Amino acid sequence: MASTKEFFKKKKEWSNYKDALLGSYILPYFNKIMSTGVEVVYIDGFAGKGKFDDGTSGSPLLVKEKIYQAKANSKYNTKITPYFVEYEHAVALRSNLCDASMNVVEGDYRSEVPNILKNSVRKNIFLYVDPFGIKYLDFSIFTQLNPQKYNSVELLLNFNSFGFLREGCRLLKLNMEHIEDELPDFSIESNDFKNDITNMNKIANGEYWQDILADYNAGKIDIFQAEKLFLHKYMLELRKTFNYVCRIPIRHSKSKLSKYQMIFATNNKHGIILMADNMIACNNKMAIDINGGQPCLFDYEFRVADCESFIKDELPDEYMELKDFYSSLYRKKGFLYLTKDMNNAIKNLEENGEIDIVRYPATTKTGKVSRSMNFYQNTIKIKRKQL
Ligand SMILES: C[S@@+](CC[C@H](N)C(=O)[O-])C[C@H]1O[C@@H](n2cnc3c(N)ncnc32)[C@H](O)[C@@H]1O
Repeated sequence: MASTKEFFKKKKEWSNYKDALLGSYILPYFNKIMSTGVEVVYIDGFAGKGKFDDGTSGSPLLVKEKIYQAKANSKYNTKITPYFVEYEHAVALRSNLCDASMNVVEGDYRSEVPNILKNSVRKNIFLYVDPFGIKYLDFSIFTQLNPQKYNSVELLLNFNSFGFLREGCRLLKLNMEHIEDELPDFSIESNDFKNDITNMNKIANGEYWQDILADYNAGKIDIFQAEKLFLHKYMLELRKTFNYVCRIPIRHSKSKLSKYQMIFATNNKHGIILMADNMIACNNKMAIDINGGQPCLFDYEFRVADCESFIKDELPDEYMELKDFYSSLYRKKGFLYLTKDMNNAIKNLEENGEIDIVRYPATTKTGKVSRSMNFYQNTIKIKRKQL
């Protein structure tokens, strides 16, 4: 097994995607959540060293900057309390963060995060989980993010689903086809333990993964179908706590094999819309990177031409708030279009008299009829025009 020091030598290219997802979400999240006036507790459960040996920032330094920006620009004086939990590199992390208000907690994710949560009842919680592998991902920590106990809860998780299935095959003594591109298995000797089926049940929050792997072993499904089924069930488990759960596979090559999944869970409609935009943008960037910088025929730029007819087909027959319309589309159809493109499509339909829209306030500050599509600040309702 590789030493964790290897991991921090150089940031891997595919880590940039997870940083981009965290970085582009967390600042608007802080900006929005600070308006609740309720303290925000940001927890990075596997924080790392803060900095890679090649000089690039890890998640703690990235988030520290965003906290500074949020505080500098917000008209609300809401407290943001960050906790960076790290088992092995806490000393280096503290020195890299170089700010005593960035709380570094030296210890194990599985005991430290529940402690922090216990002391954060009624606050806004954001949990970022970026482990090596899957072994320490005890699902009961996610179950503790009970929305009744906190003002709000959000989770961004790096989950190595193929790693889970590979480990499941090993423990159930099944053969798994050789899959290249494995992520090295990093481990910390002083905190290592022997993985077993009971621990895998704890990670998955059930035994369903064993049936999926049995079907795979019997040749009924291939490993990619197994992964899809497994992720579906895993996300259903998260759905017991969060209204909205979504994911994006992070890839580095044309192979169908993903490095890991970034899974996001929230109870907040604005949160899912914002993350949908980020995930679609990340997916586009990834597709272009994989294609050597060239857009290809299946890319977003080509698909977006169909956005208007898609929206037209999906319009509700009764008035519905735009943000509800978007979040229900994401739930029903997946992340297809950026909100800016769906907004443009709706504006076109409005200009062509093909949609009914009401806005509150109906006029702008200067008394003009509002044409706003800003559903964060205004109430915008739409419905299909009855002919
Ligand atoms: C993938 S790295 C995190 C990288 C970090 N998010 C970044 O962007 O730089 C995982 C980190 O978790 C730490 N770690 C491993 N097991 C842990 C545990 N049980 N509790 C807390 N930290 C742990 C490792 O030392 C390592 O620094």
